[in-house]
Amino acid sequence: MTHPYTPEPFRIKMVETIRLITPAERESALKEAGYNTFTLKAEDIFIDLLTDSGTGAMSSEQWAAIMRGDESYAGARSFVRLKAAVEDIFGFKFFVPTHQGRAAENILAACVVKPGQYIPSNMHFDTTDANIRARGGRPTNLVIDEAFDPENQHPFKGNMDIAKLRDFIEKTGVANIPFGMMTVTNNAGGGQPISMENLKAVAAVYREYKIPFFIDAARYAENSFFIKQRESAYKDKSVKEIAHEMFSLADGMTMSAKKDAIVNMGGLLCLNDEKLFMDIKNELILREGFPTYGGLAGRDLDAMAVGLYEGLDENYLAHRLGQTAYLAQRINDAGIPTIQPTGGHAVYVALAVELYREGAIRGGEIGSVMFAHPDPDTGSMIYPKLELMRLAIPRRTYTQSHMDYVANSLANIKTRAASIHGYKFTYAPELLRHFTARFEPL
Ligand code: F0G
Repeated sequence: MTHPYTPEPFRIKMVETIRLITPAERESALKEAGYNTFTLKAEDIFIDLLTDSGTGAMSSEQWAAIMRGDESYAGARSFVRLKAAVEDIFGFKFFVPTHQGRAAENILAACVVKPGQYIPSNMHFDTTDANIRARGGRPTNLVIDEAFDPENQHPFKGNMDIAKLRDFIEKTGVANIPFGMMTVTNNAGGGQPISMENLKAVAAVYREYKIPFFIDAARYAENSFFIKQRESAYKDKSVKEIAHEMFSLADGMTMSAKKDAIVNMGGLLCLNDEKLFMDIKNELILREGFPTYGGLAGRDLDAMAVGLYEGLDENYLAHRLGQTAYLAQRINDAGIPTIQPTGGHAVYVALAVELYREGAIRGGEIGSVMFAHPDPDTGSMIYPKLELMRLAIPRRTYTQSHMDYVANSLANIKTRAASIHGYKFTYAPELLRHFTARFEPL
């Protein structure tokens, strides 16, 4: 008999108890949280799919590495070990560790973005978007149109629209574009991958116009595995080789290590430009810490050095993407649509509040709450093209039966879909409003 799912290529060595509170307790938890899943307490949640960021389970090897952590202020052994892994996998000339991805974005933006400048990408994720805006810059999304059609089966829906990119550069002018980006995989658009062919084309355009090219590498290993599965020229290459080729196309990268490096905290900023690296080091010392620890403890650097390799393990990746696909399939079988094809780290459906009410399951909104913002020129609201609720799956953390529980809860919601109402804002800050916004039922 064939297996309907890929069994976990690991076994459980340490457990953390989770508790399912009653429907009445959930209702009062929701009210207290202002109907924002970010404001709920973790102890009131049974299955937490708010994010896959920093929520994965570290391996016994990573915990062993934690004990090796060298807490020297400068030049720690932990840094030397991380440096070896970063150079081996990514291949850039220079790098600094940062405390997480947004710190890398902030430092890069602080060093190169001037007010009124534009930064193109396929789609920026929330913190990248906000860090560019916070410096007066304008993040611009140029993903292919297929990305906005949830049913379209395009295998690389995270791809950049090359014609749109050329047109944008011609209209904006190279002087107004300090660097260009690509987010792999495209988190804001459903965790969708980008093909190597597209990355090569993007790199060629950026190079032609002498625009430095940075990759947002948060989920680069998942993206590399999709390339291996879906792009025939890469089927016999290892995921590590694919990743290496991908980064060889770019001038630098920002990375949240809390995703594909499977650590609870950490980030990287890598690049080839020595002069910019000097500016970055100075900014890092001011904001994060000395360049050999960048806001992290020595033990964090060691856990990252090990996690970077574990994130590239193809047995793990087959299970990881298989688990996501399994959950999506079960949800689709219950007659509930999800973004097609299923992405790497998450399943994107609807109704964040209702899923908590039903099963004490926490997801997160990725739509107007996260991305709507006033146009800097006219002040009128610009709404994103996709309204989604994301079920982000922490790495190596939940089992098959947890996935079944989530799918069954969604199926239960479907049966009472007609009676579900919406919510309105009662509070929202200017930037990154989804984290602290409050709502009340309509
Ligand atoms: N880039 C991408 C594509 C991300 O998904 C994230 C974080 C960041 C950058 C920022 O990294 O959190 O380490 O500062 N995404 C998380 C999420 C928060 O839930 O998807 P960070």
